Order: sequence, then structure tokens, then C-alpha cells
Amino acid sequence: MHTEPATSGLAEPQFGGPGSQAVPGPGALDELVDTMARVRAAVESVVTGRPGLADITLAVLLAEGHLLVEDVPGVGKTTLAKAVARSIDCHVGRIQFTPDLLPSDLTGVNIFRTGSHEFEFRPGPVFSNIVIGDEINRASPKTQSALLECMEEGQTTVDGTTHQLPRPFLVVATQNPVEMEGTYPLPEAQRDRFMARVTVGYPDTSAEILMLDRQEATTPLAHLQAVTDGPSMVRFAQQVRALYASPSVKRYVVGLVAATREHPSLRLGASPRASLQLLRAAKAMAAMAGRDHVLPDDVQRLARPVLAHRLILTTEARLSGVTPESLVDELVQRTPVPALEPADRRPF
Ligand SMILES: Nc1ncnc2c1ncn2[C@@H]1O[C@H](COP(=O)(O)OP(=O)(O)O)[C@@H](O)[C@H]1O
Ligand SMILES: [Mg+2]
Repeated sequence: MHTEPATSGLAEPQFGGPGSQAVPGPGALDELVDTMARVRAAVESVVTGRPGLADITLAVLLAEGHLLVEDVPGVGKTTLAKAVARSIDCHVGRIQFTPDLLPSDLTGVNIFRTGSHEFEFRPGPVFSNIVIGDEINRASPKTQSALLECMEEGQTTVDGTTHQLPRPFLVVATQNPVEMEGTYPLPEAQRDRFMARVTVGYPDTSAEILMLDRQEATTPLAHLQAVTDGPSMVRFAQQVRALYASPSVKRYVVGLVAATREHPSLRLGASPRASLQLLRAAKAMAAMAGRDHVLPDDVQRLARPVLAHRLILTTEARLSGVTPESLVDELVQRTPVPALEPADRRPF
């Protein structure tokens, strides 16, 4: 039962005719900037503490990546994902990973209808705009890879039929770094599929008290109003893709990523996929700042969340207290920042 993959109904981004550069006119990013500022405010009205967390999450969403959230229970990981989904008026699917979860529990199954004598596809929880995969390291490698296939391809194949996943499509997978017993830690190849990894961390005292105040009488999440919608987010993601990155900025990204491959403290450096994702995420940051071109600053801001989870330290480095994060910081310090020419800011 092979069928052609259904198209999502969303046209590929079109930016002018042949030969025309993707140069947004003045004000082209105004709607994106204004909307994303409102989304950020909405998310931060629910999730307290951790400045910058909402920005990175939204950059990953706009850059069409996926997010790995590593933290202990109860710090607001699920709340963060739900707050983003609600503010962009999108559907959330929730998957609690367990060792006995099967790939079909994620993707869906074909059910035989005795009345019509036909198979009917019942979609699983991946058919959502924002998929929260809780404790991904508790699932078997087979089920993990089913999710990763969805992340990479934006589609899933069940019994030979390919089904397109909705857009926007953001997987927020969580891992508890403390309780590792009986788990299947994500292999490097699979961690590499996540655009960024963040930790939420404990809020500071005043943020935690603010959380108590806000949740004393009501649940802020339940009252969160959408400030935009899915189709707008898809449009913004297209604008982000078309944002200008100069040759100097691209060289900077590649220089930074390549430096991880030569570092003596690393057993495994970052892949070319990391370069791609770093540039895409940097474009999203630039767009949210209302800039029509990427600056090295955007790249630096994202270097830790985009690169650290892909690096494997040598045993000696780990024992001497080096962390992937400190190593990324060191490389950011060391890699020469290109001096941008005026031409780097605009294509002509
Ligand atoms: N930083 C935070 N901001 C707002 N609420 C939080 C925060 N951390 C925890 N909470 C609250 O604690 C509870 C558990 O949060 P949840 O998102 O389910 O945690 P996790 O998914 O990390 O286990 C929720 O009621 C949530 O509102
Ligand atoms: Mg949770």
C-alpha cells in the first residue's frame, strides 16, 4: 500500500523571481519582531526565572529545529512547552516515554474497520504542532529513533504510507540527568538531531516567590491567551530562512564548529549539521532582533546551547573539571571574530 507522500498544503517559500536576492524591504520584519516579543512576554508571564530561556526556545521554533531540555523534575519543563504552544495557538501532543512504548504509540496505527472493510489511520501524538516527549531516555532505542525520524523528516511512514506532520512542528524532549538507572541515554548521533539543549535550572528566590504569588489563586497557564497562530509562525520561519548571512559570518560559524574537532580535550567534536543549525538559529535570533542580517553576536549567543550537547570530552578533560559548556566558551573566546564590511550587512 504505497502512496505518494501527501503534501502539507503549504507551498515552499517563494522569494522573488530568479536572480532576485532574498532582501526583505524595510519594515519586512516588523510583524515578526512585534509578534515574537508578545510571544516571549506571554511565555515569561507563566514561566518565571531563567532570562533568555524563552528566547532560545523561540529561536529554535523559528529556525525549525527541536529542543532538548535536560533538567530535574518540577522545574517547569512541561510548563515552558505548553506556554509556547498556547501563545502561538497550536496543538500540543504529550508522550511519556517508558521502556515498553512502541514506535506505533508515537506515530499512530492503521485500524481495520469492519463496517467499511477498510483500514483507517489513527494518528498518534506526533501529529501535533508541539510534541512534548517526556523522559525520552526511558524509551527503547527503536522508539527513540521513530521520534528522531519524525524530527528529521517532518513526516512519518506507517505501514508503507507516508504521512506529513503538521507545521509548525517542534519537538521538546526532556531528559532527567540525575536518574539515569534503567534508561537508554540518547546516543550522540541522536543528540545531534536536536538544534539546541537547554537547562531550565532553579529559579532564584525572588522568581520562585513570584511563581508562588502567580499560582496562588489561579493557574497562569490556563489563562494564557494566544497572541498569534500556527500559519503566522510558518510564515515567520520562511522569513528566517531567507535572512541574509554574509560569507564572513558563515566562515565564522564554520571556524567555530571546526575548532571543536581539533580540540585536544574532545573525543568528538561538532558535525557539519551543527554548523547548519548554528547558522539557522542565529538567523532566528537576528530576525527577532529586527535585523535583516546575521551578526557574529547572534552566533556567539547560541554557541553554548547549540554546540555543547554534541561534544564528548576525553576522560582526562572530564576528570579535570572541563565541561562542554566551558569548552564552547573557550572556543568562542579564541576564534577570531570577523570584522564585518558594510557589504556584509546587505547583499548589495
Ligand atoms: N520556573 C517556573 N515557572 C513557573 N512555574 C513553575 C516553574 N517551575 C515549576 N513550576 C510549577 O511547578 C509545577 C511543575 O512544573 P512542570 O512544568 O510540570 O515541571 P517538569 O516538567 O520540569 O517536571 C507546575 O505547576 C509549574 O507551574
Ligand atoms: Mg514534565
